[in-house]
Amino acid sequence: MGGMKIGVFDSGLGGLSVLGAIRRRLPGADLDYVADSAHVPYGDKGEDFIRERSRSLADFLLAQGAEVLVVACNTATAAAVPNLRAALAVPVVGMEPAVKPATLATRTGIVGVMATVGTLKSARFAALLDRFGAGIQVLTQACPGLVEQVEAADLEGRETRQLVQRFVGPLLAGGADTLVLGCTHFHFLRPLVQAEAGPDVTVIDTADAVARQVARVAGSPELPAAGRARFWTSGDAVTLQRPLAGLWGGMPRLMPLPETPG
Ligand code: DGL
Repeated sequence: MGGMKIGVFDSGLGGLSVLGAIRRRLPGADLDYVADSAHVPYGDKGEDFIRERSRSLADFLLAQGAEVLVVACNTATAAAVPNLRAALAVPVVGMEPAVKPATLATRTGIVGVMATVGTLKSARFAALLDRFGAGIQVLTQACPGLVEQVEAADLEGRETRQLVQRFVGPLLAGGADTLVLGCTHFHFLRPLVQAEAGPDVTVIDTADAVARQVARVAGSPELPAAGRARFWTSGDAVTLQRPLAGLWGGMPRLMPLPETPG
């Protein structure tokens, strides 16, 4: 007897941060996760491409029995969630940079958002700023290269540290006292970002807020004790096995995503 089935996808392994938060909130749910590693990063791809990939990954997860679909990627949410909601019969939970919580946390009135180029230039992000950005100053910082470091599960090597310094520095120099991690990959770099920013800066991550929303949508059902987690990738399942184990823990088995037509 399985529990509630939840399908989750991201451009790569970053969405594991959201998957982990869902696991903690709904330990009995059966989780299916797809990393579109053959196409990571999404951050520099066009919206049409991301929409197509998102639809194809969503169809795969629905074929596995997903009753709730989670887009564990800010970039894919910005590009594809309205289309997925229009096309699919299951609830679709997406995510966006936590600008609203940041407006409540900031004391200087200056907030820094770290995200992908795709997220920052999306109409959805512009609408988010229109809605919640009034009265505060929002500094945005694209972070090319950071996603790749997380994909390699390199969370504290020299190159990763240098990149974090390079991206956090201008936000601090601009007066930000609150930093929004607007990309699911960056959750794994939170300790580095916090160390770089110092103890007086609030770092906000959305993984748990998304998991809370998933639990709401799933109706927090009574579930058997421990659900399963299965993992697929469109990339090289052998090479990615190690980073997956590094980010998720244990010895999860990674399966190649079957080719999808179109
Ligand atoms: N993890 C994704 C996000 O939240 C996208 C990273 C990427 O593939 O560029 O934005």
